[in-house]
Amino acid sequence: MNTFLLEDARAADRAELLEFLHSAFKTNDANHPRFEAIYPDFFFTATEETMARHRVIRHEGRICACVGWYPMRVRVGENNVDVFGIGQVSCDPALRGGGRMTALLDDVCAKMDASGAGLSWLGGRRDRYAHFGWDLAGANLMSGMDARSVAKPEPGWRVEQTDPAQLARFWPLRNRAAISEDVPPETWLARMMRGGKLHRVFLASRGKDAGAFCVAQAAGGGDSLMEWAGETAGIHAIVSHLLASGQKGVNVAYSPALDPAAQFFWNSAGWSSAPMSNLRVLNLGALFKGYAPWLAEHLPPGVGVNLSIRDGGSAQLGNGGPTLELDRLTMARFLFGPSKPSVVAALPSELRWLDQVFPLPFLLPPLSSV
Ligand SMILES: CC(C)(COP(=O)(O)OP(=O)(O)OC[C@H]1O[C@@H](n2cnc3c(N)ncnc32)[C@H](O)[C@@H]1OP(=O)(O)O)[C@@H](O)C(=O)NCCC(=O)NCCS
Repeated sequence: MNTFLLEDARAADRAELLEFLHSAFKTNDANHPRFEAIYPDFFFTATEETMARHRVIRHEGRICACVGWYPMRVRVGENNVDVFGIGQVSCDPALRGGGRMTALLDDVCAKMDASGAGLSWLGGRRDRYAHFGWDLAGANLMSGMDARSVAKPEPGWRVEQTDPAQLARFWPLRNRAAISEDVPPETWLARMMRGGKLHRVFLASRGKDAGAFCVAQAAGGGDSLMEWAGETAGIHAIVSHLLASGQKGVNVAYSPALDPAAQFFWNSAGWSSAPMSNLRVLNLGALFKGYAPWLAEHLPPGVGVNLSIRDGGSAQLGNGGPTLELDRLTMARFLFGPSKPSVVAALPSELRWLDQVFPLPFLLPPLSSV
């Protein structure tokens, strides 16, 4: 039985919370950057609303444990998935092992389950978080491109670096990315400062208007693509431009199932499975609603199943059919891969069509990571 008093952090707690988070994470890395530098979009200004995204416990009046739960809408192709990103999981070094993280995660899980969102994302150790219902899942790829592996771009593309604040030049394009978070421009601009270093925005045009857009973040002599959208030939021109300007390599993690640029990334590079994150299925009905366009396209006619999470609700896919109950961890891998459902769970022959529907594409855009 949890005996801690759990609270929402307040706007007035900003400085105290930042101090606490830094002291807690310094035990992992003595040079851990400050959280206002990592997440300026959360912490540069503190409103009651943004600070209330942090559940905290106090000890002798001071914050001693925290879990951040951040709502976001992720556009996955035509689908809209409501996700809670979990981060800033921390406890005062002197009080560890006392059950504070457990109490906070139990509380946040109950709140997420009641929220009507479909999914929760968390980066971290599987063994620590599986107890709470998150499991490693996902079916994305990662490509590492270099000057030798990328073919010459098509002629006629002009690549330029632009100020992220020049939104009118690329915002409509950015909003058509295969996967992106649905955020207002001001939040996106604050995200451009994450890590204390302005991300760079590149445009490729072959004519009057930009035909492609990429956000790149420099790290370790190379670049990572954080966002990209538009014509694949234009994205190719931007990647070639980055490599020609002295970057050793360009890395990108992407969904092979729905990114129009996937073939370019795949063909131009050595590739591997993208590192997986932990996913917790919150509400199957909400998830299927968010993925309605994908399901309409992939569900064969005349089939049905009632999918159920043990102790976690159920939802109908198609019409009729049997009930298939799985525990919450298995459900994450069943729905999001990397394997097909028939590999994750023993399926009777009448349910083999589920292999045509799952895995669902999902990737948390790197700029939305918490
Ligand atoms: C991770 C951290 C938040 C744990 O806080 P805590 O209050 O000591 O955690 P608890 O007392 O609730 O749990 C203690 C341990 O028992 C484990 N545990 C708790 N309940 C459990 C259960 N029912 N079954 C199995 N394990 C359980 C927890 O996973 C934890 O192990 P871990 O530290 O190896 O993860 C704390 O060590 C910390 O601040 N670390 C530095 C920051 C960090 O690394 N955060 C995580 C980033 S992803």
